[in-house]
Amino acid sequence: MNTTVIKTGAPMREADMNDATPKMEIRGVSKTYTTRKSETYALETTDLSIGTGEFVTIVGPSGCGKSTLMMIAAGLEEPSTGEILVDGSPAGPAGPKRSVVFQRFALFPSETVAQNIGFGLSVAHVSKVERTERIKEQLTLMGLEQFRNSYPKELSGGMQQRVAIARALIVRPEILLMDEPFAALDAQTRTVMQEEVSRLHRRMQSTVFFITHSVEEAVYLADRVVVMSKRPGRIKKEISIPHDAPWRTGDIEDAMTYGDFNELRKEIWDLVREEITTH
Ligand SMILES: Nc1ncnc2c1ncn2[C@@H]1O[C@H](COP(=O)(O)OP(=O)(O)OP(=O)(O)O)[C@@H](O)[C@H]1O
Ligand SMILES: [Mg+2]
Repeated sequence: MNTTVIKTGAPMREADMNDATPKMEIRGVSKTYTTRKSETYALETTDLSIGTGEFVTIVGPSGCGKSTLMMIAAGLEEPSTGEILVDGSPAGPAGPKRSVVFQRFALFPSETVAQNIGFGLSVAHVSKVERTERIKEQLTLMGLEQFRNSYPKELSGGMQQRVAIARALIVRPEILLMDEPFAALDAQTRTVMQEEVSRLHRRMQSTVFFITHSVEEAVYLADRVVVMSKRPGRIKKEISIPHDAPWRTGDIEDAMTYGDFNELRKEIWDLVREEITTH
């Protein structure tokens, strides 16, 4: 990866984005889950705009409503109030513009790795020739070439997660929604995948909304980090990461050698820690 690629593919600066319609807008969204036995107020009224090509990460204590917000953004859960706009229009149910990767994404157990990865292309009626080519590309990217004909149950958790990530990336979504996508990966694979997602984001200019429990990961990947309060979740603070942050060109291990990176990490971790109740 060289600097030229980074520069050409870099996300728009905040100033450039101010005039443009946000790629995705979370407008007045709140959520109360109602079951027969109880009501859970999961998410306070939330507003968040994500610019085209922007990478926004979300951190916050367990149970604060991050996945709830993601499910609503994906069109997979109805908000109690508010709406999601994509390119300025009401988004409706999940579609090809938005791809989702969840922490425990169910793969199709009776389909092979290659079939699972290619699923979105079959649905979109992409030609067989192109489908084969793009599946091959993803298999290589994820280091899964030798497992193309294996079934999910024959893979480790980390490998299954890579299949899930490939399945989302293959459709080249305009918006990629990722809920702790690397949580099941071993530390080494996780580092490689972080760098890969960062590189892909720059190359493809996709808009990414990404939940993580790792503050380092949040700072390393993001143009903007959103910190949420404890439940009912609300946005506590948004922290912009400098556009020209030097750690963008290396991996997360390099990032941790920068003083500025560590200051941001500490500031954000302190904000999250205040929200973690131990009783
Ligand atoms: N389908 C559901 N029905 C009822 N309550 C739910 C449902 N999904 C989530 N909740 C509740 O909403 C709250 C927020 O859950 P959510 O999964 O959004 O949190 P989270 O921030 O993603 O947590 P974690 O970091 O542990 O993944 C929790 O109290 C949870 O119990
Ligand atoms: Mg969650």
